Amino acid sequence: MKKIVIALMLVTFAAAVSFAADTVTYDGGKKGAVTFDHKAHQGKLECSKCHEGTPAKIAVDGKDQGHALCLDCHKANNGPTKCGECHTK
Ligand code: HEC
Ligand code: HEC
Ligand code: HEC
Repeated sequence: MKKIVIALMLVTFAAAVSFAADTVTYDGGKKGAVTFDHKAHQGKLECSKCHEGTPAKIAVDGKDQGHALCLDCHKANNGPTKCGECHTK
């Protein structure tokens, strides 16, 4: 019985640490900061749409990476694509 309780606690702990912060804000340069709502995206899309293997931090640095990650999927899935829908000053 004790072993089962400990196993359950470990499962709960693992589930808790596999969730990212609710929102992340990228600098976005002159165009203005970009806020990514991880929680909202996570609720609508499977983890594997963005993460390969075990979900972990994805580094986003600059336009090429940012647009490749965010814009490409938005174009393909009717997400927001206007500059001001991501960049805010
Ligand atoms: C729309 C894309 C997308 C989806 C879907 C997504 N993630 Fe993420 N995730 C990201 C991005 C981008 C980051 C990097 C955020 C940052 O810089 O802190 C991230 C970061 C993380 C991190 C690392 C957090 C940190 O600060 O170290 C974990 C853990 C994670 N995601 C788990 C998940 C899980 C679990 C799911 C599915 C339930 C999921 N993600 C779905 C894009 C996504
Ligand atoms: C795998 C696909 C995918 C990726 C990657 C993705 N998004 Fe999205 N995003 C969507 C979809 C689909 C919607 C529209 C959701 C809806 O209308 O219900 C959306 C909506 C949004 C919205 C509108 C408000 C909201 O949160 O619902 C913003 C802002 C946004 N995304 C920013 C980002 C940023 C910034 C990144 C990159 C760090 C990103 N997204 C990566 C699919 C994606
Ligand atoms: C789906 C969200 C999204 C949309 C729409 C979007 N961007 Fe971005 N953009 C990003 C992300 C994320 C970054 C990376 C931010 C960072 O690394 O600080 C970025 C970075 C940039 C940068 C580089 C900033 C820097 O100095 O590092 C420029 C310039 C830029 N975008 C211009 C635009 C323009 C112009 C449009 C409209 C045609 C646009 N973006 C639409 C998400 C978006």
